[in-house]
Amino acid sequence: MSAEPNVILRTEKLKDHEDVYKLNSIAFENREDEPQLVERIRLSEEFIPELSIVAEENNEIVGHILLSEAKVINEQEEHKVIVLAPVAVKPSYQKQGIGTKLIEEGLKRCKDLGYGLILLIGHPTYYPRFGFKPARDYGLELKQFDVADEVFMVCEIIKGELDRVEGELIYPKTFFMN
Ligand SMILES: CC(C)(COP(=O)(O)OP(=O)(O)OC[C@H]1O[C@@H](n2cnc3c(N)ncnc32)[C@H](O)[C@@H]1OP(=O)(O)O)[C@@H](O)C(=O)NCCC(=O)NCCS
Repeated sequence: MSAEPNVILRTEKLKDHEDVYKLNSIAFENREDEPQLVERIRLSEEFIPELSIVAEENNEIVGHILLSEAKVINEQEEHKVIVLAPVAVKPSYQKQGIGTKLIEEGLKRCKDLGYGLILLIGHPTYYPRFGFKPARDYGLELKQFDVADEVFMVCEIIKGELDRVEGELIYPKTFFMN
């Protein structure tokens, strides 16, 4: 099914914070972890305002994506990358392409900002359609979370970046506070 024709995507504003909290809470089955993570990232150094994007229909927020800065380190160097977390669509609006639109817009904005790699921990059947592939196959490691190879994924949005960047993904401390 295609997205509702009048869904618009825009950068999140201050007045949206409460609705974005509620949306993340509902989409993640009333868990507080994801909405609270969004709140913490917004206050952190890794927050990039234009990478907090909402999908709005008839003045209602029905989707949200947040991408923020992280780094990949190795013994020689450190590279800035982007991590995607979380993305959420209101349950009654799911499977209409809104998640796809949010992710595609997020990737485009990251590229425009000059970031070459997006990493995430996510559903291995959902993200490959956007170009995500298992990150450990490309010399990237994740030790902070004990996750299977297929859920730790990377998307190269600037060609050649995967040849240039190798090492361990370090999620900012914001991801580990409660
Ligand atoms: C994941 C999510 C954002 C997708 O949004 P959406 O608007 O429904 O996505 P789209 O309509 O663009 O795409 C729907 C596709 O996503 C797939 N999908 C949705 N949730 C999925 C999941 N948990 N695992 C695998 N695939 C999933 C659907 O099966 C569908 O696949 P199809 O196109 O092959 O039929 C939405 O389902 C959601 O908010 N889920 C709860 C929160 C969550 O798990 N977020 C992701 C982790 S950060």
